[in-house]
Amino acid sequence: MAGRQLPRWRDLEPFLKVRAVERSAPARRLSRCLSVDDVERLARRRVPGAVWDYVESGSDGEVAMARNRDAFERVELRPTAFSQVADPDVATTILGRPAAAPIILAPTGYTRLSHHTGERAVAAAAAESGLPYTLSTYATTSITETARAAPGGRNWFQVYLMKDRAVSLAHIEEARSQGYEALMLTIDTTVTGMKRKDKANGFAIPPELTPRTPAGLARHPGWVGNILTTEPLRFATFPEGSHHGRWGMSNTLREQAIRPSDIAWLKERWGGPVVVKGVLSIGDARQAVAGGADAIVLSNHGGRQLDRAPVPLELLPEVVAAVGDKAEVYVDSGVRSGGDVAAALGLGAQGVLIGRAYLYGLMVGGQAGVTTVLDLLVAELRRAMNLLGTPDVSSIGTEHVRLRTG
Ligand code: LAC
Repeated sequence: MAGRQLPRWRDLEPFLKVRAVERSAPARRLSRCLSVDDVERLARRRVPGAVWDYVESGSDGEVAMARNRDAFERVELRPTAFSQVADPDVATTILGRPAAAPIILAPTGYTRLSHHTGERAVAAAAAESGLPYTLSTYATTSITETARAAPGGRNWFQVYLMKDRAVSLAHIEEARSQGYEALMLTIDTTVTGMKRKDKANGFAIPPELTPRTPAGLARHPGWVGNILTTEPLRFATFPEGSHHGRWGMSNTLREQAIRPSDIAWLKERWGGPVVVKGVLSIGDARQAVAGGADAIVLSNHGGRQLDRAPVPLELLPEVVAAVGDKAEVYVDSGVRSGGDVAAALGLGAQGVLIGRAYLYGLMVGGQAGVTTVLDLLVAELRRAMNLLGTPDVSSIGTEHVRLRTG
């Protein structure tokens, strides 16, 4: 019979250590994630509340944001089982060039808030996965530094047209000199949408600290340490110390009356492909294409701009019918699984954009976290195609998708 002894914690220590190491390894955590939802759950714990709120919030009553997800969830995917193949091909072309999958990484502002490695990590992960990455005008890494982090990547630059066109021209020239492939003009942000939590958190331009801010930061010393010991957080597409850099997202600096002639202006100066993002009607789609857009993104900005705006997925078939023979049509706002990607393709999209989904990965594990999210989406898309009976992305058609009304 085993005799009793006083507890000896030293005997347990090796086991405890092993557990601690496992727990602290982002790679281990990421390897257990089976969906973007799993990554999101982990991400929430990795960043201060104010950062989480900034990424997660929709505008006003968040009606558009909720409807975006509801539309994807109402999609029924309908197999054509007798055309199944063992190894469906998820590759496609975007703007006429090969892409490993019909997925584009959307521009996101303040990306280094999600993880100090920020835009460099996202661009590198996208390049490694063979997918285009779009750097935001409100990026926290410069156009040049981002390109250096992703040599060989398909880097796009998102343009918030500035009233002072010289500032936008400087962006265009830097993007050109760094080998960027396309410009993406966003047309839905005449003023920044009201995210109520951002207001409460003092997450505004200029920053207004509230009592909640320091408390939130104190709970995330690792995040704070990383931010404080790496390059200063700033709007890095603008020259250091410049008026635009300092005031960043200020509504008054952005062009607040964008016209199709601005697309033509941009195209003329750029000379390459221009994608117009934030289209939400057939009329605007036609005007964007007439203005010279090579592609349009049906987007309500992830529900962050005009609340109660149309749901891009629901608008997709009619817009594709109207302009699909003249421009590529992409869709975003609510994409968070490979099944969602299949749904968008079935309704006529050439590709989808993801924003929050990759930021979750970034929060959890920097570049490796973004790669995990991209891998999950591609694996889910491939599995959906296996089960749908679609050998390649172009064979996903209207017969595979129905929007349930109930
Ligand atoms: C946003 C702006 C930066 O959605 O596009 O926060």
